[in-house]
Amino acid sequence: MDHALRLVLLLLLLVKVYPTSNAYDFERCERTVKQWASSSVHSDSKDGRILKDLLFFLHVPRTGGRTYFYCFLKKLYSSSLECPRSYDTLHFDPRKRNCRLLATHDDYSIMSKLPKERTSVVTLLRSPIERVFSAYEFSIEVAARFLVHPNITSALKTSVKLRLKKGVISTLDIWPWKYLVPWMMEDLFSRRDARKINGLPFTYGNDSYNMEEIVMPLQEFINHPVALDIIHNGATFQVAGLTNNSNKWEAHEVRHCVMAHQTLGKYVLEVAKKRLDDMLYVGLTEDHKKSATMFANLVGSQVISQLVASNPVTEAGNDTLTVEAQSENMTVGKLMETYETCVSKLRSSQSKRRVNSFKRISPANFTKEARLHVSEAVLKKITLLNALDVELYKHAQKIFIRQHHVMEQKLLDPDGPVG
Ligand SMILES: *[C@@H]1O[C@H](CO)[C@@H](O)[C@H](O)[C@H]1NC(C)=O
Ligand SMILES: *[C@@H]1O[C@H](CO)[C@@H](O)[C@H](O)[C@H]1NC(C)=O
Ligand SMILES: *[C@@H]1O[C@H](CO)[C@@H](O)[C@H](O)[C@H]1NC(C)=O
Ligand SMILES: *[C@@H]1O[C@H](CO)[C@@H](O)[C@H](O)[C@H]1NC(C)=O
Ligand SMILES: *[C@@H]1O[C@H](CO)[C@@H](O)[C@H](O)[C@H]1NC(C)=O
Ligand SMILES: *[C@@H]1O[C@H](CO)[C@@H](O)[C@H](O)[C@H]1NC(C)=O
Repeated sequence: MDHALRLVLLLLLLVKVYPTSNAYDFERCERTVKQWASSSVHSDSKDGRILKDLLFFLHVPRTGGRTYFYCFLKKLYSSSLECPRSYDTLHFDPRKRNCRLLATHDDYSIMSKLPKERTSVVTLLRSPIERVFSAYEFSIEVAARFLVHPNITSALKTSVKLRLKKGVISTLDIWPWKYLVPWMMEDLFSRRDARKINGLPFTYGNDSYNMEEIVMPLQEFINHPVALDIIHNGATFQVAGLTNNSNKWEAHEVRHCVMAHQTLGKYVLEVAKKRLDDMLYVGLTEDHKKSATMFANLVGSQVISQLVASNPVTEAGNDTLTVEAQSENMTVGKLMETYETCVSKLRSSQSKRRVNSFKRISPANFTKEARLHVSEAVLKKITLLNALDVELYKHAQKIFIRQHHVMEQKLLDPDGPVG
């Protein structure tokens, strides 16, 4: 009897620890997702247009956020004002309580570690098809650099060394690249090995996005479980705080439920939209010129006055000096000039790296012309797989138009009330 009881208990335990597929059954999922959604929206958006003490740049991968970080934010905030950055599991350092800037690929769940009432959030969104192409190409670009190695063993050794280098943040440390790049690296090496074994002749065809002898075809990439987990609807999941990298354990259940039952996506979308509404600024990668001007006028101007106004006496030692040096004579006009020079330098070095990297997978080359040949079916599939992001992007476009009006008003009447 005792034995039987123990067995039953053990079985119950096993069922709990190893939930079978019905852990994601519809009713259960609906409850989980709805519960998450209702606990995720708080209406505390008053003064949403006023910069608070901490600026959190929620950097959705492949939206061009690097240029904002290096060419706007780094020109405004000195390093001493940056919160300890970690693109992985953020160990937010409470000792650095006065940090003013956090820029990371971490999703919105990081807000639970930040002083929420004193934090303003900004982000950039990009049209989903463009973002998927960019994620595919960038994964390959970084992975292809390792093809200088004779074999995967030697490539992996180097990548481990890169990650251990002190004081340097390698792309391989940063989510989502820490998953996407090693995956692509193994794939590139195995295709190269297969070519060696199979020998000549090769008839590669002329479609770079479908050149399976050399690189994973786009179609295979978008349908792979890794892409499903990390890339598709990535912007919505990131704004909702539900990415594969979320530091909240409930997030993973909610995400899996939404992936299993598409109709539940609407709850996540509503949360993400609401969050965008409450942000200090939402930019669009496609509209980069207008976005940058808007950023300088709506966010940059406030950062400048905030840093100038911060009382030097109460600031600790060297922070004062750096704050003054960065922003003392800064104006919105100067910020834009600085930004444009910086962006063109950054772009030219990025494009050199890209060309050099793609040489290693020649004749595959991801050019604008090559893209025109991607089939309608593949584009349709990407849209389908990113249905939430498509909707979120539409919403962001509406916000963008509103923001533009706000900026125009502000430029007409600089002393008027913000918003
Ligand atoms: C990989 O390349 C390294 C460096 O050339 C070599 O020492 C090693 O034997 C190779 N390993 C395999 C499994 O071929
Ligand atoms: C490949 O070549 C064919 C025939 O020359 C042409 O019709 C097609 O547009 C080319 N595709 C690409 C991707 O260049
Ligand atoms: C995130 O995705 C990667 C790649 O699919 C996977 O290896 C990892 O386990 C995932 N992490 C979580 C928490 O789901
Ligand atoms: C302040 O800056 C100077 C010069 O850069 C440096 O030598 C000194 O150690 C700094 N002091 C503190 C407290 O960080
Ligand atoms: C700001 O302008 C003043 C007056 O022109 C100048 O003395 C000072 O060096 C400038 N500061 C910086 C950081 O450029
Ligand atoms: C790939 O395309 C770029 C841009 O069109 C070009 O500059 C580069 O030379 C091409 N690379 C190869 C290896 O053909």
